Amino acid sequence: MFDRLSGWSRRQLLQTAGLAGFAALNLRSQSDEGGANNLSGVWLEPFVDPLPVPKVLRPRSVSGGRVHYALTMSEFRQKVHRDLPASILWGFEGATPGPTIAAQRDRPIEVHWINKLPDRHRLTIDHTLGGAAKDEPEVRTSIHLHGGHVAANSDGYPDDWVAPGDRQLTYYPNGQPAATLWYHDHAMGITRLNAMMGLAGFYLLYDPAEKALGLPAGAYDIPLLLQDRLFDARGQLIYPTGPDLAAPWIPEFFGTHALVNGKIWPYLQVEPRPYRFRLLNGSNSRIFRLTTLPQQAFIQIASDGGLLPEVVQREDILLAPGERVDVVLDFTAYKGHRLNLINDAPAPYPSGNIPGPRLILQFRVGHRTAATQQTVVASGLASAVKPHEKEATKTRRHTLREVMAIGSKRHSVLLNGQRFDDPVTEDPKNNSIEIWEFVNLTMDSHPIHLHAVHFQLLDRTPFDAREYLNAEKLVLTGKPLPPAPGETGWKDTIICPPGQLTRIIIPFRGEPGRFVWHCHMLEHEDNEMMRPYILRP
Ligand code: C2O
Ligand code: CU
Repeated sequence: MFDRLSGWSRRQLLQTAGLAGFAALNLRSQSDEGGANNLSGVWLEPFVDPLPVPKVLRPRSVSGGRVHYALTMSEFRQKVHRDLPASILWGFEGATPGPTIAAQRDRPIEVHWINKLPDRHRLTIDHTLGGAAKDEPEVRTSIHLHGGHVAANSDGYPDDWVAPGDRQLTYYPNGQPAATLWYHDHAMGITRLNAMMGLAGFYLLYDPAEKALGLPAGAYDIPLLLQDRLFDARGQLIYPTGPDLAAPWIPEFFGTHALVNGKIWPYLQVEPRPYRFRLLNGSNSRIFRLTTLPQQAFIQIASDGGLLPEVVQREDILLAPGERVDVVLDFTAYKGHRLNLINDAPAPYPSGNIPGPRLILQFRVGHRTAATQQTVVASGLASAVKPHEKEATKTRRHTLREVMAIGSKRHSVLLNGQRFDDPVTEDPKNNSIEIWEFVNLTMDSHPIHLHAVHFQLLDRTPFDAREYLNAEKLVLTGKPLPPAPGETGWKDTIICPPGQLTRIIIPFRGEPGRFVWHCHMLEHEDNEMMRPYILRP
């Protein structure tokens, strides 16, 4: 709509990459080379598998006050549905999602990420993408702690990958408030493929202040990793390739089914009482909009960076790749009933028409609760310290814009028209506060993520995208829209809607070094929608 040339060609490619035109694509699945035998032809019964909850990882050792963990990455078979043969997947300690790391505030840990994956990738690599050339090892991993305030050498920089047989060492200081963090692969040029195979897990950071609130805990505090996927009838992953086999990258991946903690349509037996759910969107490109049926309000208590200043009651939860929302769902009034978690977001968001998974998860409410303690959801959760705009010493304006590579049919979405290897342009000074503005000139929402920091959303203002594309002029067409109720806390990933100027305020505070900022739609991230930034001393 906005960018006539590239916008249209891209949308056409998306249509063919969508389910409607599957035959036009070269589907590569592991068991069925080239066949279009995807699950759209197989009927699966919903809600037959119990929801798996990833186990909490035990430390390998504790020495000198330091806690050491080790996680081995490998290939294995795991069942995603009762009626499908086991899928070939990748994960940590033999499972995907990997085991949950439970960390305590101000207690640093050390993690060894041991790559024992096969040398050949299961999915089709696009060797024309930056960092994924033929002379690089096919399988590479660089594990990033998403939302973690860590030093650059532990951040999982895309180029800092290790190959099978090698290991990555990281140090996580945990000097930040309680929050739902997660770990996932970040290797240059193949992050989307490694994520698709399953390289992700939860990292839950706890602290005494949060504990004192008496929120649902233990068995009543359950992380939910949502990922859309496409399977063939033999239960194997399908990751479509584009029409150009020399450059098979696709602009976005959208699957037909949603996994919750690695299962299609699981159910969860719950007691008639409040639960805390930590929602994480670990999809490659899909944005979810979640409701329950029958409709029950979500009480949001936290977002990416931890607790919100106040609880927020929400009818639906919009969740983009990389984002987390912690909610309390109260089943007290539903004794003996069932509630379904439903998704109704269009893909691409907000105006696409590629069909996607509607059913996500079923809650089956029992008649009794085992716990005697009654959970009270506090209203004042965390103290709200929002940096003031006047404290910002610099404002940077960034464009999100589609471009066509010269002499090629392929487009990419670039940040400021620059590629990953172009010279660093973002170099905030440590302990300074900056405002970053995102001018989205594309048709879709992009979740923009910054490493090593948390920020707050200031506002979003509609502008005339056509005017900007024609004359590089920012013409605002409406009043600034304040953050939505669930977006008032500390964020590390923010949805930038099309035709809006999204403004965030960022206190840069950490160990100087080189980090990245990028779109968390992994197909975009792998195709240059990622830039380095340097935190200057
Ligand atoms: Cu969740 Cu740079 O990533
Ligand atoms: Cu994007």
